[in-house]
Amino acid sequence: MSILRAVKGMNDLFCPELNMWQKIEKTAAEIFSAYGFQEIRTPILEELSLYVRGVGEESDIVAKEMYALKDRDEKMLSLRPEGTAGVVRAVIENSKVGLDGELKSFYIGPMFRRERPQKGRLRQFHQIGAEFFGVAEASVDVEVIAMLHDFLAALGLQDLKLILNTLGQPEERVDYLKALYDYFVLHSDNICSDCQRRLQKNTLRILDCKQPQCVKISEDAPLILAFLSEESLEHFNEVQAGLTRLSIPYEVSPRLVRGLDYYNRTVFEIVASSGLGAQNAVAAGGRYDGLVKKLGGSDVPAFGFAAGIERIVLLLIEQSGAAQAIPLDVVLVYADSIGKEKAFELLYQLRRKNIKADLDHKSRSVKAQMRRADRLGSKTVLVIGEKEVQEQSGQLKLLSTGETLSVSLVCSAIEEALQIN
Ligand code: HAM
Repeated sequence: MSILRAVKGMNDLFCPELNMWQKIEKTAAEIFSAYGFQEIRTPILEELSLYVRGVGEESDIVAKEMYALKDRDEKMLSLRPEGTAGVVRAVIENSKVGLDGELKSFYIGPMFRRERPQKGRLRQFHQIGAEFFGVAEASVDVEVIAMLHDFLAALGLQDLKLILNTLGQPEERVDYLKALYDYFVLHSDNICSDCQRRLQKNTLRILDCKQPQCVKISEDAPLILAFLSEESLEHFNEVQAGLTRLSIPYEVSPRLVRGLDYYNRTVFEIVASSGLGAQNAVAAGGRYDGLVKKLGGSDVPAFGFAAGIERIVLLLIEQSGAAQAIPLDVVLVYADSIGKEKAFELLYQLRRKNIKADLDHKSRSVKAQMRRADRLGSKTVLVIGEKEVQEQSGQLKLLSTGETLSVSLVCSAIEEALQIN
C-alpha cells in the first residue's frame, strides 16, 4: 500500500518547533492588545468572488494560485489566500464598521496559495495580521507599522529592514500607469514572458519582477513620486516623519509594489537581510482605503499588514538556534506497588500546581524508569518505594549533576525543592 503523504507545500508541525509558534502567537496577542487591537476569526473558506473582487483578478494570487472548488450548489469557493479580504467581508456583513466608526482587528491563521514551494514559501502558510479601519490619517500608518516593529523586536529578530513606498491614489495612478506602459512597451522584446503578460494586464507588477533583465530595465522606469498630488506627497511625508520621530529606521524604495491590487498610498515590506533566501519578506502591508467600499461597505479607509509565521520561525532558528524542548520538572519513579500508588497521588497534586511532572505507566524496573526520565529530558527524578512511603520522605535527584536532596513526600515540599533547583 502506498504511504499517505501530506499535500506538497503543506507541513505537519511538531514540538519543540511548535513551542516557538506558541510564543510568537502569544507575543503578538499581547503587543497587539496593548495597541487596542482585538482578535477576529473568519472562515478559511470564502466565496471565490471575494478574492476576485478584493485581491484583484489580474493579481498572481487570484490568476494562478487559488485553491478553488465548486460547492454542491455550484457556487465557487476558495481557500483563503490571505486574510484582509475575509476580514473586510466580515466587518461589512456584521456591521462592525460604519462611516464614523473605527475598528482594530488582528488575526492568526492558515492561508493557502498554490505557489511553487521553496524555502519560506509554502502552499499552506500562516499569517499574523492586523487591520485598522476608519482612519485615513498618516499617523495610523505610523502606529500600525510601529506595532509590527515592536512585535518583531519583542521576538528578538535582528537585521530586518523596513522598506516603504507610496502608490498614490487610484486617480493619480492612471497617468503613472500610462507612463509605465509607454516605457515598458519600448522594451517589450527584452522583458520576461511573465512581464509581457503583465504589460497588458498589470503593468505595475513588472517593477516587482526578480528576473535580472526585468530588474535592469525597471531601473530607468518612471517613478510614481512625479505623479502624486500634493495631498498624497504630504501624506507620505507625514508617514516618514512619524517613523523618524519614533526612531524606526526605514528606506524608501520607489519601486516597491505589492502583489495584491487593493493598495493606495503607503505600502511597505519588512525584509530580512539574510536567512530567508529569495523569500525575504517577513511581513508586508499598506493602506487600502477603497476596499471596504469596493466590497459593498461604506467609504471606510483602512491600513494593515500580515507577517508570515513560517518565515519568522526560520529567522529565529537561524539567529538563535533550533527550538528547545521544554523540559519536565520531575519524573516520579516507583520501586513497588505501594510506591506507585503514592507516586500517582503526588503526580496529580504537582500537575495542579503547574509543575511538569510525569511517570511511567508500565510498571517497569526502576532502572528502566530512570532511563525513560533521562530520555524525556527531565530535570529531576524522585524515587518512591514502600520504605519512602513509610518514612514520608524520598530522595530528589538532579539529573544534570547527580546531586540528591531529601524531601518530604508532600506536594508543597516537592514544589519548594524544585524551585530551589
Ligand atoms: P502578502 O505580502 O501577500 O500580504 O503576505 C504577507 C506575508 O505573508 C509575507 O510577507 C510573507 O511573510 C507571508 N507569506 C506570503 N505568502 C507566503 C507563502 N506562500 N509561504 C510562506 N509565507 C508567505 C498579504 O497577504 C496582505 N493581506 C497583507 C495586508 C494586510 N495588507 C493589508 N492588510
